[in-house]
Amino acid sequence: MTLRLTTAGESHGPALVAIVTGLPAGLTLDRNAIDRELGRRQEGYGRSPRQRIEQDRIEVLSGLRQGRTLGTPLALVVRNRDHENWAWGMSPWPPEGEPAGKGKEPVTLPRPGHADLAGAMKYGLDDVRDALERASARHTAAIVAAGAVAKALLREIGVELAGAVVGDDLEERIDAARAERDTVGGIVEVRARGVPPGLGSYATKEERLDARLAWTLMGTQAVKGVEIGDGFALARLRGSEAHDEIRRDEGGYRRDTNRAGGIEAGVSNGEEIVVRAAMKPLPTLMRPLASADLETGEAGQALVERSDVAAVEALAVVAEACVAWELARAAREKFGGDALGDFVAAWRAYVERIPWSAR
Ligand SMILES: Cc1cc2nc3c(=O)[nH]c(=O)nc-3n(C[C@H](O)[C@H](O)[C@H](O)COP(=O)(O)O)c2cc1C
Repeated sequence: MTLRLTTAGESHGPALVAIVTGLPAGLTLDRNAIDRELGRRQEGYGRSPRQRIEQDRIEVLSGLRQGRTLGTPLALVVRNRDHENWAWGMSPWPPEGEPAGKGKEPVTLPRPGHADLAGAMKYGLDDVRDALERASARHTAAIVAAGAVAKALLREIGVELAGAVVGDDLEERIDAARAERDTVGGIVEVRARGVPPGLGSYATKEERLDARLAWTLMGTQAVKGVEIGDGFALARLRGSEAHDEIRRDEGGYRRDTNRAGGIEAGVSNGEEIVVRAAMKPLPTLMRPLASADLETGEAGQALVERSDVAAVEALAVVAEACVAWELARAAREKFGGDALGDFVAAWRAYVERIPWSAR
């Protein structure tokens, strides 16, 4: 039994879609809670006016009846309100009528740092838009919707997550970059409490929880580094300084430090899961970098399109959803169950068996 997620949708197409399979039947989903997560993704200092157009809302097409999952594929839709401004340019079918709205002209000046040039060469495109529309981080709305479902499942077994930006100088950095028509990146951290020992496995690389967290975060737009626990800093420590000593009290096994970020040998060890992701500065610049025209090869300036100055706070929300998804997937593998009650009962029997209690 495992959770699977398939997403579809372009940034300015009609909608983003997420199809989730492998949920137990009987899980209550709260529409407002999912919309709240979608709203959190759109907030944050440095976002573009696009976020004011969108006001994302979840729609459910299948897998849910009267607020409870059926154990069948759950189809989630987030409409792109902005699509009406791109109805001709992003029409799925050959558009009718005179060219109108946005996306009429082909984009031929690829942005350094975006999907544009590599995508155009790989797929044989003469309009960079055909690459950037799917590469765009608008896709993360579908991830956040699926993550909200994963969080609802995790809550049933006492797991709570929080994502946050690391560092408190963000607004100043964003203001300074905006004034110079530039962009910035940053670092985000996700913490998950109440994760029982034993999610993931050292048996194969694919099952390792650390590998799965790195995969999902690295697979997110603009993420260029991932660390678990003290990550890169561990490389400079001695073994005696780096590992979390084990003791036992009436609550079970305990660690007084958590440099491993709650994962040893690819398996959760019962401590808080701590994972960080580094985001590069966004590639769409209002003062564009040098580029070369796809059609003529002539030197030019890269595409300028409405864009965020920073999206680090949004990434914190997306990263939280990604981590929730992978933890929920690992929990489904460990505890199984077609009905929610079976899943929760298996979790309860397991945590009663092991010398561990959540902190
Ligand atoms: C939440 C979020 C919002 C983003 N917003 C923008 C944006 O407005 N403009 C931009 O150029 N890149 C933005 N990006 C980053 C690009 O999507 C990303 O850099 C691009 O797809 C190339 O992929 P790569 O950076 O992973 O190599 C955003 C990323 C995230 C996670």
